[in-house]
Amino acid sequence: MGRTSLKVRNPANAPDAWERSVLESFEKRKDAGEDPVKMEYYEVVRQEGVKELRYMKAIPTAKLCLACHGENIDSITRTRLEKLYPDDQAMGYKAGDIRGAFSISQPLDAASN
Ligand code: HEC
Repeated sequence: MGRTSLKVRNPANAPDAWERSVLESFEKRKDAGEDPVKMEYYEVVRQEGVKELRYMKAIPTAKLCLACHGENIDSITRTRLEKLYPDDQAMGYKAGDIRGAFSISQPLDAASN
């Protein structure tokens, strides 16, 4: 289980190919008028020979998130973020944007439980 995004702060949270395509479809669904609050997607996929149930739920950007992910981050926070996350992409969001998504993978083959 983890969190991912099309614009990550921590590179360790970068999406894999399946997650990226779901995140892109979430953006399209939002553009088509769907509320990100209820947005989710699941699919049974076979990955490296293992059958997995994969699930993602969108994480909308709330006002309080903007202090660290918005367009006007205060200088103390910004300096700290630049130091900890030199490759930070997770800024410039507005309230209501999709910040990212929770992502869960559950192997379904009995042997892998
Ligand atoms: C106090 C600063 C702060 C606030 C406020 C904050 N975040 Fe973050 N956010 C971070 C940091 C730091 C990371 C990197 C965490 C890590 O190293 O995994 C992060 C990472 C994330 C990630 C994981 C993907 C990535 O970019 O690496 C998501 C999704 C996310 N935040 C969403 C939110 C949402 C939604 C809110 C508001 C409900 C929020 N954040 C509020 C600092 C913040």
